[in-house]
Amino acid sequence: MNNEILGATYRIEPLDRQAGRDAFTCGVEPLDRYLRQQASQDARRGFAAVFVVVEQQSAEIRGYFTLSMAGVPVTVIPPELRARMPRYPSVPAIRLGRLAVTLSARGRGLGKFLLFDAMDRALHNEVAWSTFIVDAKDEAARKFYLQYGFLGLLDDPDHLYLPRATVKAACAS
Ligand SMILES: CC(C)(COP(=O)(O)OP(=O)(O)OC[C@H]1O[C@@H](n2cnc3c(N)ncnc32)[C@H](O)[C@@H]1OP(=O)(O)O)[C@@H](O)C(=O)NCCC(=O)NCCS
Repeated sequence: MNNEILGATYRIEPLDRQAGRDAFTCGVEPLDRYLRQQASQDARRGFAAVFVVVEQQSAEIRGYFTLSMAGVPVTVIPPELRARMPRYPSVPAIRLGRLAVTLSARGRGLGKFLLFDAMDRALHNEVAWSTFIVDAKDEAARKFYLQYGFLGLLDDPDHLYLPRATVKAACAS
């Protein structure tokens, strides 16, 4: 589906042979390098589903994210949420492993567009999960996620989560 954001048209699609990988610069070198060197291989081998946002006019990649299945040890779930869960040792989760927007396209709403698309894809995944998790790479990334209601897991302040019900409500609104 195409989406118009600030006068440009974008679509999100699985990583394939789209242009712009080499020029992609989000300001965090490991995220740039990942897209250039490792993303295709991870996708092929089932380590991550990689989606890119492509600007229609230039056909170039402006951002990307990865999704994988994950398990969160129940001990890192805050007690108030844990109390409402069955007593399994780990909680099925979807991990938004990476999310990045190229510097030239920052501040146009693409990060939010990618995040909500990732959550929507997670909801439509038929494999069960109850927690949507992200690893914030730095304080700026943490702040980005916190504005959408992400909460801290107990093992690391940069490990953040949203319960499935919150993801569902956010995507429905
Ligand atoms: C974080 C990132 C994906 C945001 O992308 P973006 O396209 O510039 O973000 P958007 O334009 O969609 O911003 C959406 C909202 O988040 C806010 N926002 C963006 N970056 C923010 C930050 N670092 N801290 C707090 N708020 C932020 C915007 O002001 C906007 O708020 P609004 O809807 O009230 O106007 C981008 O800055 C990036 O790629 N950073 C480097 C990689 C990174 O840190 N990835 C995330 C963790 S791995």
